[in-house]
Amino acid sequence: EVQHAVPMLSLDNAFADSDIEAFNRRVRERLGRDAEAEPVVYAAEPKLDGLAVSILYVAGVYERAATRGDGVTGEDVTANVRTIRSVPQRLRGAAPAVIEVRGEVFLPLAGFDRVNREAAERGEKIYVNPRNLAAGSLRQLDARVTASRPLDVFFYSIGQCEGSAPPASQTELLARLRSWGLRTCPEIARVEGVAGCLEYYRKIGARRAQLPYQIDGVVYKVDSRADQERLGFVSRAPRWAIAHKFPADEELTTLIG
Ligand code: IVH
Repeated sequence: EVQHAVPMLSLDNAFADSDIEAFNRRVRERLGRDAEAEPVVYAAEPKLDGLAVSILYVAGVYERAATRGDGVTGEDVTANVRTIRSVPQRLRGAAPAVIEVRGEVFLPLAGFDRVNREAAERGEKIYVNPRNLAAGSLRQLDARVTASRPLDVFFYSIGQCEGSAPPASQTELLARLRSWGLRTCPEIARVEGVAGCLEYYRKIGARRAQLPYQIDGVVYKVDSRADQERLGFVSRAPRWAIAHKFPADEELTTLIG
């Protein structure tokens, strides 16, 4: 077990455009912002369908990795996460004395197909979806099995941070993560107001099937950290972010007997 020094929060879900309009209205009202004169700037990001992990670097060196768990207590997955090729053993440049970086571990679709094909050839059970395979891979007792799975990770936030002031915005935070050699999702955009959010949702939704990994929606985060702090949290979710989910996939089944 690992106790998270800074809790790993979850996100409120929205499905309809009107939910996003209501979210933006709440944000504006709490910040005292006039919609026309000064639209709220958001970082819009794909909602990656994987598993959240938190990785601790001490003096820039990989120290420990944990799953989200219930947000307060996670599971230690240090040995397994170390095998992921895009997780650096040492951060580049001037990293803070202590920094916890957070993101989503996922299995790209091509890797999922390959692992399942090989499992089928060996007569083993196949996994239902990339998320289940990623979760199973992180829970392996033998890190060599995890190493054989082509897992990847995109980082999107930080937890504990000592020895450096946190960046002034989500956009700057992502740039900082990249400067340390950590991968971030290439689809992230800075958008203005509810119109910018909904345009982003539609554009990513149209390209969803072409992306090399699975996403189940998008996340809008108030870009300014000062505004995030003013908005704060309710129970386990920030008031400054929301997940805009895609409708669930529907399939037809013919009942033949
Ligand atoms: S931010 C304070 N950004 O969604 C907000 N989460 O429903 C913390 N997720 O546990 C999360 N993509 O596993 C954030 N771009 C993204 C995300 C993302 C996927 C997952 C994450 C989190 C869950 C919350």
